[in-house]
Amino acid sequence: MTSARQSSAQAIVDVLLSQKGGVGKSTIAVNLGAVIGENTRPNGPGEDAPVIAAGIDPQGSMEKWADRVEEDDLPFDYVSTRGDNAIIPRLKKDPLVRRIVVDCPGFMDVDPTAERSRDPLGHGAAADALRAVLDVADRAIVPINPEWLAFDPTEYTIERILRPRGIPFLVVVNRWDPRDGREDLDKVQAWIDEHGYPRAPQAIRKYKIHTNAAEKGLVVTRYAESGTALRAREDFYKLAIALDGLEVRG
Ligand SMILES: Nc1ncnc2c1ncn2[C@@H]1O[C@H](COP(=O)(O)OP(=O)(O)OP(=O)(O)O)[C@@H](O)[C@H]1O
Ligand SMILES: [Mg+2]
Repeated sequence: MTSARQSSAQAIVDVLLSQKGGVGKSTIAVNLGAVIGENTRPNGPGEDAPVIAAGIDPQGSMEKWADRVEEDDLPFDYVSTRGDNAIIPRLKKDPLVRRIVVDCPGFMDVDPTAERSRDPLGHGAAADALRAVLDVADRAIVPINPEWLAFDPTEYTIERILRPRGIPFLVVVNRWDPRDGREDLDKVQAWIDEHGYPRAPQAIRKYKIHTNAAEKGLVVTRYAESGTALRAREDFYKLAIALDGLEVRG
């Protein structure tokens, strides 16, 4: 579990990764950061937090999101690496930092015909940023939506990117709409299980409040009280617990 990493005093780095765009990497990165960072700011608002949400997208989408947030109100600190690939390795060694959740961009510019032995991430600033963060990643979270179009990119992400690097991973179904019934959810879960991929037991449900949250600069721990807000929060706590059961890269 986490003891080996903690005794070496390095932060645990979890990356949100999928070749497919729009599956919920950014949503999960900030909300997971929010639930694991809750009540961990040792010196109160304004002081350094032991949990960091990091964006490696050259466009700095983490910054765009964070611009809208009341900074003192956030249970984590955030950084946008903006091409400085040394930032996350440095933060990992910072004794004040315990957890780093990294939001990775989708990477569509892979070469699907590349030989299995070759790194399919390609060239360029985004690929270099991704490689740099994968070098220090302890675990990966791979979001998948309950639709068959998501199957191939998920398999590709796992088989071509994560497994060759020996990075332990957890697949989580995101954006399941309970009003649609369980059919599509059962299908995607069966697919994950058939492949023998570790899976978070509970899907993250689709709620409109998530969709509007980024625009409002909100995280799940700060949603206005409602039944939906409670269920939305529960989904992320359960993901955090499932993640705790996953080994970190040795
Ligand atoms: N559980 C959810 N419920 C409702 N909306 C969601 C949920 N998860 C994600 N979304 C919405 O789906 C869209 C895509 O999510 P998000 O931006 O997190 O995906 P992404 O994987 O980071 O995309 P990209 O690859 O473009 O970076 C956003 O509008 C987001 O608000
Ligand atoms: Mg994103």
